[in-house]
Amino acid sequence: MTDVSTHRAEEDIRNDSILIWVNGRIVPKAEAMVSVYDSGFMLGDGVWEGIRLHDGRWAFLEEHIDRLFEAAKAIDLAMALDRAGLEKAVIDTQNANGMVSDTHARLMVTRGVKTRPFQHPRLSQQGPTMVIIMEHSRPKIPRPIRLATVPHLRGLPMTQDPKLNSHSKLNCILACIAAEKAGADEALMLDVHGFVNTTNACNFFIVKKGAVWTSTGDYCMNGITRAKVIDLCRANAIPVFERNFSLVDTYSADEAFLTGTFGAQTPVGVIDGRVIGSGEIGPMTARLRDLYKGLVAA
Ligand SMILES: Cc1ncc(COP(=O)(O)O)c(C=O)c1O
Repeated sequence: MTDVSTHRAEEDIRNDSILIWVNGRIVPKAEAMVSVYDSGFMLGDGVWEGIRLHDGRWAFLEEHIDRLFEAAKAIDLAMALDRAGLEKAVIDTQNANGMVSDTHARLMVTRGVKTRPFQHPRLSQQGPTMVIIMEHSRPKIPRPIRLATVPHLRGLPMTQDPKLNSHSKLNCILACIAAEKAGADEALMLDVHGFVNTTNACNFFIVKKGAVWTSTGDYCMNGITRAKVIDLCRANAIPVFERNFSLVDTYSADEAFLTGTFGAQTPVGVIDGRVIGSGEIGPMTARLRDLYKGLVAA
């Protein structure tokens, strides 16, 4: 197994004794349980969001809550809480854990407990199951990460739309396994036309001759960090393009980086055995990391 991923955090012993929000109750980690009949466990039938706390503020919380409600509506899951209730649950969990910064939370909602162990969504009759796991989390990226292109594609929207942050992530997990077996940290995934799209867990950017390129946005998560990076480029006169590009363009890039709520901007050193630029974090990635830090702190 490789020792690097975009979601690697420093070991923090405090995470052994965190409190977890489960359907309105805040309980010790060891007691935080959901039913084996839960639709999330049985079928991956649920949606989620990852959010981060920086210096007392949840970054871009509005956007994350919007995306969670949008995903719930798309899968026809009636949320038990409204927006205010959801925000309160986040703050209650934060306060119960005494967290102020460098914290990552995963908000998860499933269709809930089923009466029988079968697929039909109507078998979930008790209302949704919601859990908030909140951990102390300081990202640790000891070196730029390595990517490998894998055969698993970002599919068309009519086949489990890749814009859904669904519990069922098997396509991405299989992609990640294939990348690990190829000696890489994460998978670079192509779209159905063979253009470079995204990784199994983050959005993907390259830098060429001072311009920042990312995919058109079709076939990938509409990442909130992705959108912020594009906005920052526009606000700072950095040319930025959402466009189709291939592996040929990618291997010869001056820099490549990933975006996601957890790791912000993660440098990529190697793709399919080709060193990208210097193999270390490049000046544009470093600049965008600084601009993003400023935005989160604003
Ligand atoms: C497949 C995938 N791509 C990209 C992202 C990054 O999105 P964001 O920047 O909103 O965290 C995520 C995060 O949930 C993801 O699951």
